[in-house]
This record gives sequence, structure tokens and C-alpha cells, in this order.
Amino acid sequence: MKIAVVGTGYVGLVTGTCFAEVGIDVTCIDIDQKKIDNLHKGILPIYEPGLEEMVSRNVAANRLHFSTNIAEAIQGCDVAFIAVGTPPGEDGSADLKYVLAVARSIGENINNYCVIVTKSTVPVGTAAKVHKEIADALAKRSADIEFDVASNPEFLKEGAAIDDFLKPDRIVVGISSERAEEVMSRLYKPFLLNGHPIIFMDIPSAEMTKYAANSMLATKISFMNDIANLCEIMGADVNMVRKGIGSDARIGTKFIYPGIGYGGSCFPKDVKALIKTASENGYQMQVLQAVEGVNEAQKEVLFSKVKKHFGNDLKGKKMAIWGLSFKPKTDDMREAPSLVIIEKLLAEGCTVSAYDPVAMPEAKHSLGDSITYAKDQFDALVDADALLVVTEWPEFRSPSFDVVGRLLKQKVIFDGRNIYDPAEMKEAGFAYHCIGIRT
Ligand code: UGA
Repeated sequence: MKIAVVGTGYVGLVTGTCFAEVGIDVTCIDIDQKKIDNLHKGILPIYEPGLEEMVSRNVAANRLHFSTNIAEAIQGCDVAFIAVGTPPGEDGSADLKYVLAVARSIGENINNYCVIVTKSTVPVGTAAKVHKEIADALAKRSADIEFDVASNPEFLKEGAAIDDFLKPDRIVVGISSERAEEVMSRLYKPFLLNGHPIIFMDIPSAEMTKYAANSMLATKISFMNDIANLCEIMGADVNMVRKGIGSDARIGTKFIYPGIGYGGSCFPKDVKALIKTASENGYQMQVLQAVEGVNEAQKEVLFSKVKKHFGNDLKGKKMAIWGLSFKPKTDDMREAPSLVIIEKLLAEGCTVSAYDPVAMPEAKHSLGDSITYAKDQFDALVDADALLVVTEWPEFRSPSFDVVGRLLKQKVIFDGRNIYDPAEMKEAGFAYHCIGIRT
């Protein structure tokens, strides 16, 4: 098979590379010449564990190609994925101009039957717009070429994307013809060896599945954050409550970890977009509105604890921060809770010294010189009045607390991810504040 993947962002690059990995001939296309030049040199636009090696292996095997020329790359393809960005507008709705521009240029250039697949997260109804765009472009050329449109949402987690792609829980594909179903079945066959299914459905349902999945996951998190806050007030321990409810298979143990709010490019965007789609269609997503509200408030919880501990005058205090990215194993700073916490600390006159294993260069784009970037996690602690654990990178889980205590000016830890044991912290002489446990 031969496929094209348009858009070499996170989704496009992982998708293209993983298809090449199973032997498919893939061309990844982008309009950004610099990105394509860099990819030819093996320089990736994103950080994702294992991806760099996989790209170079498949380029060397001549299965993975990069190009800016969509007209050429699309020739002879069985499938073309559209994986370009859908940036959220002011009102939270997804901007489809890039998706539709790609659809148009596919319509202007295909010469054989092809399944055009939306892979970007797009609102219900987008595949129909893509179909129209391609049909119009073909009509302009007076070309009588058959095509199908399909919707194939991705469920990749940053930091685990390759594994998620190669061993998916499920693959969801929205189709409107048997021919498209046959092509998509053939394409995904190598990924179904672990017994998980490919689920075919109508196109609007596939589009909705993506939003429903992310919204359900965001709901679990906001629900647990709400419970955690109440646990603190009532003197219950949210870790115990989490274990207690998670053992019920209907609830499950995953995604019920309280923290400082969900971030990243997906949950905040998708929750907002679904609320917006619903309201445009005369329906109110009451649960999701609350999910969003709880999340906004939760991003401020760690800062409130700092204020409660030190009192209102934070001026001149130095705060050490471990972790800047919205979650471990990524350099993604989009909607990261660290940004809200740092903004609040700086506004109160604190100085901030931060360390993150990979996200510091990315963080500099938004934070600039407003904070100090430490050379390692211990360097961040020197003479700080407190440590705030903001992202649960593995290397933060088991530091020498002797060293931590010696470097800090005051033995105070605010743990936004509950990675330490409150009893051990107390024993080691720390004032320890975490989420959902009264300490
Ligand atoms: C999420 C989904 O998990 C993927 O299935 C989906 O494909 C992706 O969005 C997408 O739409 O592209 P991702 O944003 O990479 O993936 O990150 P997650 O690992 O899901 O974490 C999201 C946020 O939830 C993080 O801020 C994390 O700290 C937080 N979280 C997660 C919690 O606070 N508690 C939990 O129990 C789990």
C-alpha cells in the first residue's frame, strides 16, 4: 500500500512513521519547508520517546519520505490522511481552514481512487465538509475520479504515542462505503494482532467518539479533583478513596488520580469544543461545563496552599519548581498548570527557580526570563523557601530528602501530584502539603 500523511505535527508524524514501521510506503507532507528540511536531517519538530530512532530507521529503509509537494506525493496513494492543526478560535470552536485547504488540494491532484481520512480532531460534520471540498475541486477539473472520505480519530497519549499506535486498544473508523471499509481494514491489519478491534461506524459517530472519549476522561479527572478537595475538608484520604472506588471494575483504577488539573493540547480544547458545538445546536452540556470550571479552579489549588502556609506576604520568597510540562515524558507546555502557578507566584513578588528534564527550552517561549532555569533538580532548590512538585517526572519520585532538606532554606514541600508519602515526609521533618489529604 501507499499512503500520504498531510501535516507533520504530533499526530501526523507519529501516524506516518508507525505505518512505515509495518512496511507501508509513506510520504509525510508539510507546507513548512524548514520542517521538511529538518526531517530530512533527522531533526524532529516534537519530542516523543522512541520517535527519532523510528524515523531514521524507516527513512534509511526508504519507506518513509518527506515532501512539501502534495501534488506529487498524492499520486498513486490508496489513502491520504489529513493531520493538520485545528487551532481553537477565541470562542473555543476548531478552525478548519487548514483541514479544508488540504482537502481542496487533494481534490485538485488525485488521479486514482483514494480514501481521504480526517485524523485531526475535528467537529462532527467536518468529514462532510471535506467531501464537498474535494468534490468541488474535482468538478472544477472535470475529473471523474472516485473517492471516499473517512474519519479515523486518534487516541494517542503524548509520551506513549508509539506504543499506543502500534498496540491500540481499538481503532475507530467512520466510513460510508464498503470499498472504504475494505481499504481501511487492509491498512490497519498489522496493528490488530493483539486482539483489539477495529470498530467501523458511520462518520458522525466516529467524529463524536473522539470528543466523547476525551470528555469522559476529563470528567473522571475533574470528578476526582472535586472529591479530593472535599476529602481534605472532611479529613478523608483521597488515596484511600481512590483505591476503594477503583477496585470496582465499573469505575476502574485508571485516570482517577487527583492533581492540579488536566492540561495539554487535547482535553482543554476538546472539552471546550464539545460545549461549543452543543450550544450552537441548542443543547447545554451541563456536566462538561462543570468539568471545565473545576479544572480551572484546580490549577490554582497549589498556589492557594502556598498562600495558606506562608500567609499573604509572599514578596521576596524564592520558590523551587520541579516540572514544567503538562505531564511527564513530553516537552509540551500547552495549558500546563505550571504556567498558572508561576504567574500567580510572580504576581505576588516571589522569585521562581525551575527545573524540568526536557521542557525548559519550550517553557522559555512563554516564560522568557521571568524565572530562573536550574541546571538540575537540586540546583533549583538552593536557598528556596519551598519546593513545589508540579509534574511527576520519574526522577522526582525518590530524591534524597536529606539533600532536599539541606538545600532548601525551609523544609516545605507542596506536592501537586501526590508522589510522596505524607507519613515519611512528616518523619523527615518536612511541612508537606499534597492534594486531597489533610496534612
Ligand atoms: C489525551 C488522551 O489521553 C488521549 O487518549 C488522546 O488521544 C489525546 O488526549 C488527544 O486527544 O490527542 P494527552 O493529552 O497526551 O492524551 O495526555 P493524558 O496522558 O491523557 O493526560 C492529560 C492530562 O490529565 C494531564 O495534564 C495529566 O496530568 C492529567 N491527568 C491524567 C490527571 O490529572 N489525572 C489522571 O488520573 C490522569
